[in-house]
Amino acid sequence: MTEKPLLRVLAGHPVWPPPVWLMRQAGRYLPEYQALRQESGFIARCTTPDIATEITLQPVRRFGVDAAILFSDILILPWALGQDVRFIDGEGPVMSPIRDIAAFGSLDAASAAAQTAPVMETVRRVRAELPQACTLLGFAGSPFTVACYMVEGGGSRDFAATRTLSYMHPVFFERLIELLVESTITYLAAQIEAGADAVMLFDTWAGILPPSQFASRVIAPTAAVVEALNRRFPGVKIIGFPRLAGTLVADYVEKTGVDCVGLDTGVDAAAIAASLPDTVAVQGNLDPMVLIAGGAPLLSEATRICGSLRGRPHIFNLGHGILPQTPASHVADLVGVIRQIA
Ligand code: CP3
Repeated sequence: MTEKPLLRVLAGHPVWPPPVWLMRQAGRYLPEYQALRQESGFIARCTTPDIATEITLQPVRRFGVDAAILFSDILILPWALGQDVRFIDGEGPVMSPIRDIAAFGSLDAASAAAQTAPVMETVRRVRAELPQACTLLGFAGSPFTVACYMVEGGGSRDFAATRTLSYMHPVFFERLIELLVESTITYLAAQIEAGADAVMLFDTWAGILPPSQFASRVIAPTAAVVEALNRRFPGVKIIGFPRLAGTLVADYVEKTGVDCVGLDTGVDAAAIAASLPDTVAVQGNLDPMVLIAGGAPLLSEATRICGSLRGRPHIFNLGHGILPQTPASHVADLVGVIRQIA
């Protein structure tokens, strides 16, 4: 059996042209997703295997990308723990904030496995339908980023309540992080057992912390998840995405033990890569706005990024998720550019 190109990169080998997939490759910019969106709420779409399998496969069919990423959300875990997560159109996720022991006590780690059973069924179904060369990625949010939404009670520009609480009530915040470390390990282990080839930890808000907090709130919990998964599943690769971490990326890679690091739009990917061990893969980092623009800027930016990382293990991706206003034809163009790169 020939190795899947993306798994070959995760094992530390350069592949040319680089394998490509895109964060949020399933979603609102696709008319076939919009059609299913009329009929169901977001959490129902994530937890109904028929629907979630179909949505996961939509971009694979349309663009022939090198990876399928499970259609779910990082907030399915807090939902499975019993928090009242809702997704409101035009507003994003909303939930009752968890800021004291009483609210914390209402979370139930023991029930999470039953709640997420449909997600594992989706992984099994996708696995069975995927082309042989296509990698299946499972994922979760990192403990810190998930805690941000749980404490804040939804999205925020600066997560001020969460970051203040983390200073004022460190013991409480660490208990929440500890619960999330344990339940994230269980959740990702179940995805791997159901057939995920590799997993990714989304740490969207990692970069809003000062270095001292970055060590305890981002690196330490991520390292605990990586260590537990490596012990249980030797050889299963892990991608970390510490968004906005900038100069802290090298430290993150060294101390967490991730096999690949996702880079956001704001960094020079080649410069960061040069600061990492040769066998650590990098993933990224095209500006999602260039994908909306399309045409000549898309061609030149995609070519520049690939060229700057040539000879290194690199997975082509965006620096953040596809935006809903992105023309699907530009995604097809991008995949074509990468595949035909000289
Ligand atoms: O295609 C994929 O990438 C897989 C599925 C996926 C979704 N969310 C689907 C989704 C993944 C991997 C995520 C990760 C996620 N979710 C993150 C980390 C990555 C990032 O974007 O920073 C975060 C922070 C979330 C939380 C979240 N989910 C928010 C803040 C929102 C509302 C804002 C928005 O972009 O809509 C969501 C909703 C969401 N998650 C949608 C999708 C397709 C839109 C759902 C809809 O309205 O139909």
